[in-house]
Amino acid sequence: MKVLVTGAGGMLAQDIVPCLLERGYEAIGLRHDDLDITDLAAVRSAAGSLEPDLVINCAAYTKVDEAETDEYRALMVNGFGVHNLCLVCQGRDIPLVHFSTDYVFDGAKASPYTIYDAPNPINAYGRSKLMGEKYVLWLLNKFYLVRTSWLFGLHGSNFIETMLELGQRQKHTSVVNDQRGCPTWTYHLAQAVVALIETGRYGVYHITNSEATTWFDFAKEIFGLSNVDIEVAPTSSDKLPRPAKRPGNSVLDPYPIPEVLGREMPSWRQALKEYLAQRNTVTKSGV
Ligand SMILES: NC(=O)c1ccc[n+]([C@@H]2O[C@H](COP(=O)([O-])OP(=O)(O)OC[C@H]3O[C@@H](n4cnc5c(N)ncnc54)[C@H](OP(=O)(O)O)[C@@H]3O)[C@@H](O)[C@H]2O)c1
Repeated sequence: MKVLVTGAGGMLAQDIVPCLLERGYEAIGLRHDDLDITDLAAVRSAAGSLEPDLVINCAAYTKVDEAETDEYRALMVNGFGVHNLCLVCQGRDIPLVHFSTDYVFDGAKASPYTIYDAPNPINAYGRSKLMGEKYVLWLLNKFYLVRTSWLFGLHGSNFIETMLELGQRQKHTSVVNDQRGCPTWTYHLAQAVVALIETGRYGVYHITNSEATTWFDFAKEIFGLSNVDIEVAPTSSDKLPRPAKRPGNSVLDPYPIPEVLGREMPSWRQALKEYLAQRNTVTKSGV
């Protein structure tokens, strides 16, 4: 089976392509320079010459704060870019795997968000991702729409790396304790997504590492496991204002992933331990 992966230079794509190859797929990754998903003719032409059996869209505008002042660009990529992929997948009658975000929710719910909850984004990035979701739902029958959250991976800048860099420079820091979500390792997500496409069960899914936390508790665990001597104080989002508002609760309920895959996702603590071990191997071997 031939799989076309868009946005192949991104953090998630760089775990998805090797995962596909390991499972015996022919995986073709196209980076932003190779294929701009906002260009419908280019998307048609790439699909026409490569003739994929399935497309995995990892291309996205992911700068959450910048999107507040560049909403047009975010909508172009996360909305109209996805629209283009949908048209091409629809025309060729092939499935599309598309990623969305916990930030399509407003965070007001007291319990985890299920796949049946109505999105109501509170920032520009969330609005642009919701537009992409709508095109998938409107235009396609064969799709896996996968919402995920708080990604970290070996091939991109992420919260863990930010904390570890900070730990080298500072003896004290403050981290927000009023946003709750599910940190997710791109490697675990990639494995789950490849397993999901093997089920053939199309639909909307929430895939994250299991168990929820706050950025504050996540940071404490990162420093603890990495033996970084730093004092971490909890703070609130209003004391550390950022251009984009974040939902207070963006915990995603995994139903029906455990039923469909026949297993639970590993916990974020387990994922963090494995990530740190792999990261240290890569750093030591100088790769
Ligand atoms: N990161 C998170 O915490 C998080 C959380 C929830 C959901 N998600 C979703 O998960 C997916 C993967 O995220 P990620 O963290 O791997 O993102 P990422 O590292 O920012 O990768 C996105 C890739 O898309 C490329 N791209 C941007 N515009 C493009 C265009 N018009 N055409 C083709 N490629 C384009 C980017 O290339 P350039 O950099 O060269 O522009 C980049 O290589 C996204 O759908 C994202 O919305 C991410």
